[in-house]
Amino acid sequence: MLIAYLLGSISTSTILAKKVAGIDIRKHGSGNAGATNTLRVLGPKLAGIVLVLDASKGVIAVLLAKLLAMPDLVVAGSAIAVIVGHNWPIFFRFRGGKGIATTIGAVLALVTVPALLAGAVGLLVLYATRYVSLAALSFTALLPLCSYLLQAPDQFVWFTSAAFVLSLWVHRANIGRLVAGRENKLGAKR
Ligand code: G3P
Repeated sequence: MLIAYLLGSISTSTILAKKVAGIDIRKHGSGNAGATNTLRVLGPKLAGIVLVLDASKGVIAVLLAKLLAMPDLVVAGSAIAVIVGHNWPIFFRFRGGKGIATTIGAVLALVTVPALLAGAVGLLVLYATRYVSLAALSFTALLPLCSYLLQAPDQFVWFTSAAFVLSLWVHRANIGRLVAGRENKLGAKR
């Protein structure tokens, strides 16, 4: 779980934005160190790379725990730890992202079918509204429900519930903007 946290703490958007454009991504756009803000500030190519790398952190954390034959509780704990590392990275003064790409990777490796179902709904919400935050919250909200209905192990249902609560907390400013009708849409430059 400590390894997962440290892996999550490798803030790919912060590193790449600094290397490629010489900027601190956390001081631009929404201030979030993630793929959506990288898209907003630096364009689709870099955003795509960040999305894949951040999702890979989730996949690697889960697969590593499984490879080490850890009990389900530790596998689920590692999945939470990698997301926590992404959101509050020890290497970057605890200022990271909102963990959605990393959650996508972790749940794909952990509860694949529920993740695909919740992901399909998230994509529909994104297509219909162009709000990444609303799509992300729909995705994370459906994860525990789909995992429970598809009879995933209890520990994994708890993990997806915790991931949902985490996503609500880190998106609190987005939720405020959604309610006020001021949330940024995908592709908008703010
Ligand atoms: O995954 C992050 C996304 O839901 C919102 O990002 O930059 O618009 O706050 P941002």
